[in-house]
Amino acid sequence: MTTQHSAGKKKPWGGRFTEPTNTLVEAFTESISFDARLYRQDIEGSIAHSKMLAKIGVISSDEAKLIEDGLLNIRDQIEAGNFEWSTELEDVHMNIEARLTDAIGEAGKKLHTGRSRNDQVATDIRLYMRQAADDVVTLIQTLQKNLLDLASNEVETILPGFTHLQVAQPISLAHHLLAWNEMLERDVERMQDCRKRINVMPLGSAALAGTSFPLDRNMTCELLGFERPTRNSLDAVSDRDFLIEFASAASVVMMHLSRMCEEIILWASESYKFIDIGDAFCTGSSIMPQKKNPDIAEIVRGKSGRVIGNLQALLVLMKSQPLAYNRDNQEDKEPIFDTVDTLTASLQVFAAMIPSIAFNRETMHNAALKGYATATDLAEYLVRLNVPFRDAHEIVGSTVHYAIKQGKPLSELSLKELQSFGSMIQNDVYDVLTLEGSVNARDHFGGTAPSRVKEALTAATQRLNTEN
Ligand code: ARG
Repeated sequence: MTTQHSAGKKKPWGGRFTEPTNTLVEAFTESISFDARLYRQDIEGSIAHSKMLAKIGVISSDEAKLIEDGLLNIRDQIEAGNFEWSTELEDVHMNIEARLTDAIGEAGKKLHTGRSRNDQVATDIRLYMRQAADDVVTLIQTLQKNLLDLASNEVETILPGFTHLQVAQPISLAHHLLAWNEMLERDVERMQDCRKRINVMPLGSAALAGTSFPLDRNMTCELLGFERPTRNSLDAVSDRDFLIEFASAASVVMMHLSRMCEEIILWASESYKFIDIGDAFCTGSSIMPQKKNPDIAEIVRGKSGRVIGNLQALLVLMKSQPLAYNRDNQEDKEPIFDTVDTLTASLQVFAAMIPSIAFNRETMHNAALKGYATATDLAEYLVRLNVPFRDAHEIVGSTVHYAIKQGKPLSELSLKELQSFGSMIQNDVYDVLTLEGSVNARDHFGGTAPSRVKEALTAATQRLNTEN
């Protein structure tokens, strides 16, 4: 293969070099194809930096003004689609700086004083992720709102609760949906917590050791809305923990969505038929005309793999990196952007699908009648009549065995039949053998009794509203 040299633009770092860059190297090292999306943050950071340079007298205020206007102009050009990104200029930082200098001349060349792309990119990505964390919180809260709305009509709806995917005990459907809401509330907390560690400012750390210019880091910090400047320049340019934390919080959200999707897929299946998902949120089969598939839930479930994979990629990327900045870090962008995009799209479509779900209450109710879901209630009834729990468990076990052979639910056994297993059983036993009796009895904080679920729903709605 013949060696090809880049014929193009002068590299801002070209002074030390006598040979042009090999084109393979140019293609391999560029990041503009994926970091151009940081243009807003890059421009915002540069404007703050130049204002600060003017304040400390390193550039004049006229120069700072030229820089600011020039950068805002570039932002408009990018947004109007009139900006041509160049691979030869490697990344978003050098593309914008080169264009600025083309446009405003000498002042543009002063912008990079007291700064390196190392602290610049760390600042850009923090600004970007701060916004992403806020946006994700809003999306999760929209989903929560839709879930709570859905739950508000289902407090009295009974379905079987499962353990081991076997019918366990009857529960309120709203209680089930509120369990999903609990997962999402923790997800919001995790995102908000991660935001605290995103929101510190590396600018001023320069390449790794800081700079000989008397930068006012508090000023740039305030202009950019960061909580505080980073404390150590070496750590500041190399730290990507905040991306790992975001990817980790995002992975947990996706894991939660995937669990909800799994249930939605089961519930929509012919064997369960607990729900119908709106036509607008399903797709059909190209061969089987009868099919209506829960593809949204399946794709979201599938996408959880990507997001969890991105977390893995970021952890391995950082592992073994010596201080301070290494070019490896350029590889953080694609996984983290993919994480933000995938999480955003999944939350949006999942939240939109929720109101389209219709519950088949009767089918759920009938399913709860099967599987001896009130057996525990019978045992607890016996305990209230002074039978030790282990003996009660044994008695009910035999009763269930008998009922299965008779092909009857417990509530259809006669009092005589029941008494043949436990002579102390009285007529009031039928109150606890019904589904309603069973759920009503779980009347404590955190339990599934409709009165408690109603309280829980009100409390969850209040927490969501005070968050917003
Ligand atoms: N594109 C680079 C990145 O994403 C910017 C920093 C490059 N710094 C350097 N010294 N080459 O990390």
